[in-house]
Amino acid sequence: MRVAVVGATGAVGTLLLALLERRGFPADEIVPFASARSAGRQLGGRTVQPLRDDTIGGFDVALFSAGGGTSREWAPRFAAAGALVVDNSSAWRMDPEVPLVVSEVNPDALDHIGKGIVANPNCTTMAVMLPAKALHDAFGLRAMVCTSFQAAGGAGQKGMDELAGQVDTVRAGDLVNDGAAAAASVTPKVHAKALAFNVIPWLGGEAAGGYSDEEMKLLNESRKILSIPDLAVAPTCVRVPVMVGHAIEVRATFARPVGAAAAREALEGFPNLVVDEVPTPLEWAGRDEVAVGRVREDLQDDHALNFFVVGDNLLKGAALNTVQIAELLHERGLVGDRAGV
Ligand code: A2P
Repeated sequence: MRVAVVGATGAVGTLLLALLERRGFPADEIVPFASARSAGRQLGGRTVQPLRDDTIGGFDVALFSAGGGTSREWAPRFAAAGALVVDNSSAWRMDPEVPLVVSEVNPDALDHIGKGIVANPNCTTMAVMLPAKALHDAFGLRAMVCTSFQAAGGAGQKGMDELAGQVDTVRAGDLVNDGAAAAASVTPKVHAKALAFNVIPWLGGEAAGGYSDEEMKLLNESRKILSIPDLAVAPTCVRVPVMVGHAIEVRATFARPVGAAAAREALEGFPNLVVDEVPTPLEWAGRDEVAVGRVREDLQDDHALNFFVVGDNLLKGAALNTVQIAELLHERGLVGDRAGV
């Protein structure tokens, strides 16, 4: 089996390569791809390839994490050349022919793969989906208010580099008496404003009605993954000065009354979900599981529950779920030695 990793030099791509090896994915050959800038570079004994018609043939699986533009252009070309593509960008997620899969939540969506492409969900949505599905099965999910605390690494390596590069400069300013001057001492390019010693209630591009496209992903992708077309979602996405690990406070409302003890029971029984009373992104960075804590009955509505979710945005939020989808494709005989049998 030949596996392509597109975006292999990036924050997620680096983890894709590591996870394929750590989890023993049965690949005979793994070929890294990146932009023309990186072509020829050595990556763990492999030579980085450029994306060209003469380099993309003969793959069984192609794992993409090189941004939406690259996916829009090259995912169909890999598929036409015979590969099943698992795409980490937002380019194909809402295409009705393309399954949008969280491996523990809706693996059966892989029964119908149009276009030869499977989409990996947004990292924030991904983390919320594990507890949301566990609770939906028990109580019938109707609505969610989601407020995220998203790490710099959600914007890739450049997002982490920008945060790290701002720390000393901003700290040298007068953070108590003149925060505006401290913020103005750096020039943000990746994040919307100065991120060091700050929180930014805006990330992503503009969508309609004052919402960001990142916020609309929480609505649209949740509905598709959970197969609840009328799910109500009130999303607010916030960037925080954390390197890796997204957190989301969720107030979820259900068709049936929900008690904290029964909710915990449902959460504890769900695969790759761990109940941790006070989960923090720093402590969960580098871990495969999603953590859920602060599970509280709502103070007003006995059909509502409040909880706090934490997940490594680069692992379960991106690279790990991508590899888990590839594993599901292999288990189903769709790629590798049993493909087409
Ligand atoms: P490169 O390192 O050559 O720029 P991150 O999300 O950490 O920023 O990583 C983005 C990944 O996508 C990198 O591997 C980057 O390669 C790759 N990439 C960016 N633009 C392109 C492109 N036009 N064609 C192929 N790969 C690209």
